[in-house]
Order: sequence, then C-alpha cells, then structure tokens
Amino acid sequence: MSRPTRAVIDLQALRHNYQLAQSLAPESKTIPMVKANAYGHGAIKIAQALADLAPAFGVACIEEALELRSAGIKQPILLLEGAFDAAELKVAATKGFWVMVENHPQKEAIINADLALPLTVWLGVDTGMHRLGFQPSDIAEVYQCLNNSRNVSQPIVFTSHFACADDLDSDATAKQIDTFKACAPVTALQSLANSAAILAWPKAQREWQRPGYMLYGNSPFSVAQENADQLKPVMSFESAVISLRNIAAGEPVGYTGNWTAQRDSNIATITVGYGDGYPRNAINGTPVLINGVRCPLVGRVSMDMITVDVTELTEVAIGDKAVLWGPELPVNEVASYCDSIGYELLTRMPGRVPRVFL
Ligand SMILES: Cc1ncc(COP(=O)(O)O)c(C=O)c1O
Repeated sequence: MSRPTRAVIDLQALRHNYQLAQSLAPESKTIPMVKANAYGHGAIKIAQALADLAPAFGVACIEEALELRSAGIKQPILLLEGAFDAAELKVAATKGFWVMVENHPQKEAIINADLALPLTVWLGVDTGMHRLGFQPSDIAEVYQCLNNSRNVSQPIVFTSHFACADDLDSDATAKQIDTFKACAPVTALQSLANSAAILAWPKAQREWQRPGYMLYGNSPFSVAQENADQLKPVMSFESAVISLRNIAAGEPVGYTGNWTAQRDSNIATITVGYGDGYPRNAINGTPVLINGVRCPLVGRVSMDMITVDVTELTEVAIGDKAVLWGPELPVNEVASYCDSIGYELLTRMPGRVPRVFL
C-alpha cells in the first residue's frame, strides 16, 4: 500500500467552473489562467481538460508556456509578464506565445527584435494597481510605436489588472475601469476581468477575460456571493489516519508541546505535513475532516504528519479518511486559520503530493 496522501482533481468540476465563467460573459472569450502549475492542480492535465473549450491559456513565464507546448497544447499562450529578454521574444514568436508589454524596455525590445514572425502583443495599462503596466498618459504614444512596428501583429489587445475586485464594497474597481476607458480606444480589443470581476463586476466585461482562482472552484470573496456560490471546488486534498492513541488530561502533543489535552483525549495522526503543502502555521483548532466530521488540529504541524483531536468521534480507526480541504471544507476557510489565502495554499502544494485526476 502506498502513502494515502493525494490531491484528487475533479475535471468535471473544472469544466463546470469554466462554463460558469463563460456563461457570465457570453460575449467574451475565456482564457484560463494555468500559471503556477494551474494553481497547484497540474498545468498539463488542466490545460488538456479545457483544450476543447479554451481559445488560449495564460501563464506567468515562458518555461510554463513551453511545458504546455511540449505536452501538445496547441492554443496561443499568453505570457502575463511578457518576455524577459530578446531570446524569449524569438521563442515566443515561433511558438505562438502572446506577450504582455508592460514597460518601455519591453516595448523597445519588441521593436528592435529580429523575429521570424510578428508577435501578438497585449498592451498593459497601469489603471491603479501600480504593479505593472504603462502610465495612462504614455499609452497613446506606446500604442503608436507598437502599431508601426513590423514585429507586432494586429490587433493589439489593451489590458489591465484589478487590485481590489474581491472587495465588493470598494470603489477602486469602478475607478480602474474609468481610467482604462479613458485611454483604451473603444475600437481596440480589450481584457480586464479576473475571477472576482467575472463574478461580480459586469462592467469589466471585454473581448477577453482571464479567470484563474474561480476555475479551480474557489471564491475570491470573503463573503457569500450569488455567482461564486455556484462554483465547485476542483481539488480534494486527502490523507488518512496512520496512528491513534489515548492520552491523559495534561499531556502535551507534538513538537514543542504547544497543545495540552484539557481532558482525556483520543489523538489521530494523519500522514500529511508541511512537506505536502499543509501550512505549518495552521493553529490549534484548524478544522480537518475525519470520516467527514470536522475535528480540530492539535499540536504543531510536522513535515510529514499532523495530529488531530478525534475524541468526539464515536468510531475512528487506522486507515480512516482525512480531508484537509475540498468540497466539504473550503480551502479559504483553512487559510483563515493560518494567516494565508486559498490561492497560496493551493499554489504551493509540492510535487510530492500525487495528483489523481477524475
Ligand atoms: C494579469 C492577471 N490576470 C488574471 C489573473 C487571474 O486572477 P484570479 O486568479 O484572481 O482570477 C491573474 C492572477 O494573478 C493575473 O496576474
């Protein structure tokens, strides 16, 4: 028998979430973001599972794009941070990768490149996030330069990214949309929406939309939201009980003994730890499902194991199923116990955890 720790990936749920994104903006084309190993789910399998639906894919860097190409993905692949040097531009042009252009050195590199084929360019505008993109006041001139370059194929796509679309009460998103409108020609192809905007900001709809987190079935919001409530979590992070022991009230558990039993207790050891991406800073009381019942994590998370108080369970045995997060226990909820967000917990799951695709 092999170690029972695994991430079960429900590809039907993935497709449901993609179709939800598409149905919320029927006039838009939906580009799945599969960067960071498809938010930890396995980029190749995720892209393959969406290949008949998606017109393109989005990644952070050329290495991720090349991995998808090598696996037979045929669609254009958008490099969200653009090319990092001239050599990458050449590869992008020959491999059919689309490049974001975010700053003047990137623009100059495209114009001066010696390319076999012209590139599809996405022109990034800094509408208020102040992370990437040209200043709105520079856009007309930059657009003109790119438009005149033989290295740039038509049309150029105008794009920007939201800083606060997950905050339904903030006016920042509406302001960013206004800033974008003021500098992106109405006739140009445009792209604005990430998951939160697709779900909650219809004014952000444009020709292309770029969902990431929602595709994996998790809500970007900290409050209930009508559309987000229809998402189906794709990953179920599962393990099993490998040891059980009764301890007396007053006994500590785990490294540093940071939890002490207040009553005679039954402690289950689960074969999952921070070496599998379970957060080490998860606090005592973080919920873990044992046989479908929420039980509290107790004691420090080890590299390969955690300990859970199963005193309340009437029946528990070695081999019983544990779920760290999944459809019955949202990763967002687990993240709230460890000063993190679901995005981070999913993304940092290491290769040691086998991905099992349903
Ligand atoms: C430029 C860009 N577009 C889209 C996304 C997808 O965002 P989300 O996962 O919130 O949908 C990201 C993610 O960081 C991004 O950087």
